[in-house]
Amino acid sequence: MKGVILAGGLGSRLYPLTKITNKHLLPVYDKPMIHYPVQCLINAGIDDILIVTGGKHAGDFLELLGNGQSFGLKDISYTYQEGEGGIADALRLAEHFAEGELICVVLGDNLIEKNIVRAAERFRQQGDGAKILLKEVPDPERFGVAEIQDGKIVRIVEKPKKPVSRYAVTGIYFYDATVFDFIRTLKPSERGELEITDVNNMYLEKGKLTFDVLDGWWTDAGTFPSLLRAANLVAETGANKLDG
Ligand code: DAU
Repeated sequence: MKGVILAGGLGSRLYPLTKITNKHLLPVYDKPMIHYPVQCLINAGIDDILIVTGGKHAGDFLELLGNGQSFGLKDISYTYQEGEGGIADALRLAEHFAEGELICVVLGDNLIEKNIVRAAERFRQQGDGAKILLKEVPDPERFGVAEIQDGKIVRIVEKPKKPVSRYAVTGIYFYDATVFDFIRTLKPSERGELEITDVNNMYLEKGKLTFDVLDGWWTDAGTFPSLLRAANLVAETGANKLDG
């Protein structure tokens, strides 16, 4: 399985911090934000990694991460998203890299306490389709939200005003290569983006979407409160733990 980290976008919710750098290079406690998704993939045994970035500071990723040697990697691949057309638009750029293999996609502003080793193993056994990771949160209206009936997801709604459950769809996704065919059929949403939630709903309609509930804390770091929360969680308990 290959890994893809999506680290494009404007980071406008963190302005002016993002005026002179990319959101994913900002510090989260003692490391740049991008370190956390890289380590998350490595801990899951995924060492062939593509970073999709964009904007004016893309070159700084190369300066920070280089060839990945400090993570014990042999190499890291990079590509560049023109504009900020959404998460699915950024993922589109990974088709060539994926070479038809299964992929694990992690949003560059997502951090977890533990690891996704077992989810990755279950997806390898699943063999095709998609798997998403859910987490119960107090503020589901900020995220994609999964409606669950009889232990099955029946619908995912992006940032619903009245969430039907507390299960947020985290920014960690497993896909087979049909994800790129689905992305080609997407139309921009009201916010002008190609939405990953639409992709997940396409897998759902085909009966090809499974889910796990993530163990340990999960947070994004794309707003001022969540960036602070992420730093505090890392300081208090650490992130990307291998045990448990
Ligand atoms: O954090 C999980 C949530 O991420 C999910 O629950 C939502 O379903 C999903 O839509 C997404 O929500 P956000 O609105 O918070 O995503 P955001 O625009 O902050 O983008 C998250 C990351 O995706 C960002 O850190 C980098 C990457 N991205 C985003 C955009 C819009 C790109 O690489 N390119 C882009 O054009």
